[in-house]
Amino acid sequence: MADKKRETFGSKLGLIMATAGSALGLGNIYRFPCEAGANGGAAFLIVYLAIALLIGTPLMVAEFIIGRRSKSNAVGAFKVLSGTGSAWPLLGYLGVLCAFLILAFYTTVAGWTLGYLGKAAAGHFSGQDLASIQQQFSSFTNHPWLPIVCQLAFLALTAVVVMRGVKDGIERWSKILMPMLLVIMVVLCVKSLTLSGAAEGLAFFFKPDFSKITGRVLISALGQSFFSLSIGMGALITYGSYISRKDNMVSSAVGVTLADTLVAVLAGVIIFPAAFSFGIQPEAGASLAFTTLPMVFQQMTGGYFFCLMFFLLLVIATLTSTISLLEVIVATLTEELHLSRTKAALVGAAGTAVIGVLATLSFRAGSPLHIGSSTVFDLLDHATALYLMPIGGLLIVLFLGWKMKRADVMDELTNGGTLRTGIRKAIYLIIRYLAPVAIAVIFVSQLVMR
Ligand code: PFF
Repeated sequence: MADKKRETFGSKLGLIMATAGSALGLGNIYRFPCEAGANGGAAFLIVYLAIALLIGTPLMVAEFIIGRRSKSNAVGAFKVLSGTGSAWPLLGYLGVLCAFLILAFYTTVAGWTLGYLGKAAAGHFSGQDLASIQQQFSSFTNHPWLPIVCQLAFLALTAVVVMRGVKDGIERWSKILMPMLLVIMVVLCVKSLTLSGAAEGLAFFFKPDFSKITGRVLISALGQSFFSLSIGMGALITYGSYISRKDNMVSSAVGVTLADTLVAVLAGVIIFPAAFSFGIQPEAGASLAFTTLPMVFQQMTGGYFFCLMFFLLLVIATLTSTISLLEVIVATLTEELHLSRTKAALVGAAGTAVIGVLATLSFRAGSPLHIGSSTVFDLLDHATALYLMPIGGLLIVLFLGWKMKRADVMDELTNGGTLRTGIRKAIYLIIRYLAPVAIAVIFVSQLVMR
């Protein structure tokens, strides 16, 4: 296990940036406002914050430990750590399946970001009113081939970076571009807060009405925090396997959780005040970010430039997330089935393309691609965030807390006894007791109190 020659991240900053690259993405800027808007705004935010900080960070650490200890992909990790004949590797396969399904619908929206980058460059939003910007979203997503071409282009881009390997591809991109995204979001935030009517949007986002907290809100917040932090499905087991023995996993996980949460909250502070100011419903769903943001840019001096920069950075933030999803599949195919990196990336991308295109087509008005009352797109989203990730997360904390030896876990947590133990013992206790109970209770509450 530890003697296997394997790539590692070049530095601690590399680990934080690659993990932050995986975490930051459409989940923060597109999905978080969608979910908060549909689930009561501030009520959702509070539950979300509690789960992200209390369960998210320990679960992230748990995945890092499983990855680093085994130096293996999501499936191999459980083989190495649980011995032959065990059923635990099935959990790794569940993670790979989950990564594959997420990548399929995620690239639908990733394709939109590419399309919107083109629109921003061509100045399509300049001088347009709300009706025209809403119309542009619906004609883009309903276009017969454009969203598919954009989605496939995005997948191809992802595959090319993943083929080049962990250090060159993943680490280098994340280091430079994530901080730039943060800067542009702060600028947007200031603009949004000065729009007329912004206060109403702020109240929606920050003034909690606890009566709005239902089973559905709880599971949506849990699913969103797992989705946003890239946990519960093996992505961070895979990245954990590239961590060197010296890295401080706990401080990295805390840093990434805080950064990810900050960006999600910033996205809310940009989108809700602006949405209320322009008269866009907070429950607008998929179109929320893609109509509100171009409207905000319209109101800014230098709006063309900021809009272009924003969509460029969003494309890149999205790319660092799709890379981590494809890496879960590629690491497993190369190590378990001995495919070359190039072949594995091609197989992974091609498989994703098939389901992904169905998700994109299902988004069109009047599309027959429904299962029951849900589109294929919604089905993939719900199946992963509301079921597979919570179940995966639950099993991962159970594995670490109850299957692995305490001494081994503490050895990893403290880097062989060289780091302080206080907070690390608390994290171990959360992983062993609090996290499994909380995840199980939320999961069940959603099934019984609809
Ligand atoms: N965390 C990413 C986001 O918020 O956009 C999405 C994601 C990436 C989920 C990687 C899961 C994953 F493994």
